[in-house]
Amino acid sequence: MEIRVYKDSEELAAAAADLFAEVARDAIEARGWAKIGLSGGSTPESMYRLLAQPDRATLVDWSRTMLFLADERLVPYDDPRSNFGMIQRTLLANVDIPEANVYPVPTKFEAVSAIMYELSLKSVIPDMHADLIFLGLGEDGHTASLFSGSPALTETPRRAMVTPPGVLPPHVDRVTLTLPVINASRNIAFLVSGEKKAEIFRRVMDGDKALPASTVQPTDGNLIWLVDRAAAGKG
Ligand code: 6PG
Repeated sequence: MEIRVYKDSEELAAAAADLFAEVARDAIEARGWAKIGLSGGSTPESMYRLLAQPDRATLVDWSRTMLFLADERLVPYDDPRSNFGMIQRTLLANVDIPEANVYPVPTKFEAVSAIMYELSLKSVIPDMHADLIFLGLGEDGHTASLFSGSPALTETPRRAMVTPPGVLPPHVDRVTLTLPVINASRNIAFLVSGEKKAEIFRRVMDGDKALPASTVQPTDGNLIWLVDRAAAGKG
């Protein structure tokens, strides 16, 4: 595990965008495609905006990049709570990525959404190995939509599951990747920003096994924590 600490949320976003571009380049060179899982929430928004800026967007071969989601809220894409809606506005609308390379969670079908999403995942990552999955850290220690006590935390062999809301808003059902898929990724990058995350970040670093985020342990890949000084408790 590697922890990289940045001055503030802007430096953190720039480092995350650089990591995206670097992993995509190496994966395309090695295997012809980059397969990258994106998370929602507010922290990665600035990274997506930076990736869409021409100086960075041109560093990525979008025609060879496949994108999927780490989790989604079961709301329409034009709902402000939709993770895919946010990713569309900040990134996808502004880069030249073929629609066929993007795999959102279908959100119209409640329980069936996860089954449909699982079919997408089987075609994007048939061998389970994503190149990179970005994750966030909730103040309650959740990640993706893996909340404390959720059956999704112990699920195998499904790759995606519907989960009820956790304690933090928005209080809507979700679809989340399960741990076997997350942990099979070649690289996993947590983005953690702000003083409000300092306490929970410290608990994860202290190895508190009760926290869902602590259960993210790549089987054979790299685990990288990108954290700003405030979240690292050095604010
Ligand atoms: C979501 C998520 C979730 C998020 C964390 C951190 O859909 O809510 O993907 O796991 O990453 O809650 O969210 P913030 O970046 O908003 O703090």
